[in-house]
Amino acid sequence: MLKRFSVVCLSVAALLVTPTLWAADEGDELILRGPYLQSVTESSIHIVWRTRGQIDPVVRYGTKVRSMKELSSEENVQLRISNDVEGMSKPQLHIETPAEREKREKKRQKDPTGDKNVFQYEVKLTGLAPDTKYYYRLYDGDTAITKKNKALHFVTMPPFGADASARIWVVGDSGTGGRDQKQVYEAMLDYVDDTKKPLDMYLHVGDMAYSDGANYEFDKGFFNVYGDTLRNVTVWPSMGNHEGKTSRGTTATGPYYDAYVLPTKGEAGGVPSGTEAYYSFDYGRIHFVCLDSHDLDRKSTGPMATWLREDLNQADADWLIAFWHHPPYTKGSHDSDKEGQLIEMRQEIMPIMEEGGVDIVLTGHSHIYERSMLVDGAYATPTIAEGVILDDGDGNPAGDGAYRKSAGLNPHEGTVQIVAGHGGAGVRRKGTMPIMREIIVEHGSVILDVEGDTLIGHMVNKKGAVRDVFSIEKKGKVVVKRVENPWQPEPMKNEK
Ligand SMILES: [Fe+2]
Repeated sequence: MLKRFSVVCLSVAALLVTPTLWAADEGDELILRGPYLQSVTESSIHIVWRTRGQIDPVVRYGTKVRSMKELSSEENVQLRISNDVEGMSKPQLHIETPAEREKREKKRQKDPTGDKNVFQYEVKLTGLAPDTKYYYRLYDGDTAITKKNKALHFVTMPPFGADASARIWVVGDSGTGGRDQKQVYEAMLDYVDDTKKPLDMYLHVGDMAYSDGANYEFDKGFFNVYGDTLRNVTVWPSMGNHEGKTSRGTTATGPYYDAYVLPTKGEAGGVPSGTEAYYSFDYGRIHFVCLDSHDLDRKSTGPMATWLREDLNQADADWLIAFWHHPPYTKGSHDSDKEGQLIEMRQEIMPIMEEGGVDIVLTGHSHIYERSMLVDGAYATPTIAEGVILDDGDGNPAGDGAYRKSAGLNPHEGTVQIVAGHGGAGVRRKGTMPIMREIIVEHGSVILDVEGDTLIGHMVNKKGAVRDVFSIEKKGKVVVKRVENPWQPEPMKNEK
């Protein structure tokens, strides 16, 4: 039977010729990608997966693994399918016309198993209770296609404004599918186990599918590697330049935009952006903002900055965390004194962010870990430390002490910049960025824990060692002072 699905038809040539993909359960070859979680809110979530050949998609879910009595609604299923394009070298997006769809359905009636297209199902579950753990299971009609076990579960967001704690995993420039990436992932899993606090979300700061962001590269460098986490933890992505080789922010099309279901209408909090290329969301008392630094207008007068100003004006939160791909400050494998996209993110976007009271900016692109002192107003090119450092200590509660800011979101009280481009691709340093407190040329990732008025960050390297600890405390009213002759990082050997 023809279902009343809204159908977007797309070409996934690479997927059609690359069958070695991750499945939810061992031996289950029907599922090519996923399941994974998208756009969780306090009352809804999208569960996404791909199959080869069409199924009748149903998600059963409930708060107990033994009795998943709730059923997804047919109206809440979005279907995207690949076109029959085996052999095409470049995937091309293609909207299926009603005539094409009718032809496909006729073919399917004659030969129900003959349709080997790739189908992506995006099933939205609604009416969920906030801050609640649900188990889920995927079905083709009445037939289960995943096992009944505790491995598939999700937790809805806490109610907006609730004083909830959050554990956030941050990764950048990871998408090689190689050994370093896997070690970084395993080190995070061990750290989470050891500290006995599960992740609440996963932020990816771009370059998740080397080298062209093609569908098969997403599987190899992202979905296959992180599958165990992605089925339980929502990932909020930002697009890197490598995804930008096959996806476009201007039209929000391509394999990156096919893979992700992101808010456009303020569904998860914040001001509607009208595009999946940049968006915001709330988690308890934290406001998150994601930008596209790659292929959209980065000017302070452009549409993205105009939306950003409005979004930050309306943000009602204690914390503001922003993320995108191109770092405003770096001397890793890229140089923010010399490269246009990076200079623009610093000169055009950072003043808006700091006016909005941003606490942390998370980026990648530069394959290194760099973490700044408490900084404000460093918009000049080249970047200098004089006059822009509000606290030149190490920010470590066990060292110089946490960075201090006033309670709530207040303009220009200092930002910690983190370049986390060390998630898997080869790491490199080409100089010394004078606002940085830690410069570490090792693979790793960042775990941020927000608990009430305190945020603490840990950088865990691929061997599982904690290589950096910093903290921000937001209490009472803090008077901002600028440090004269601030502490400076060690230059590299032979650095001019
Ligand atoms: Fe990049």
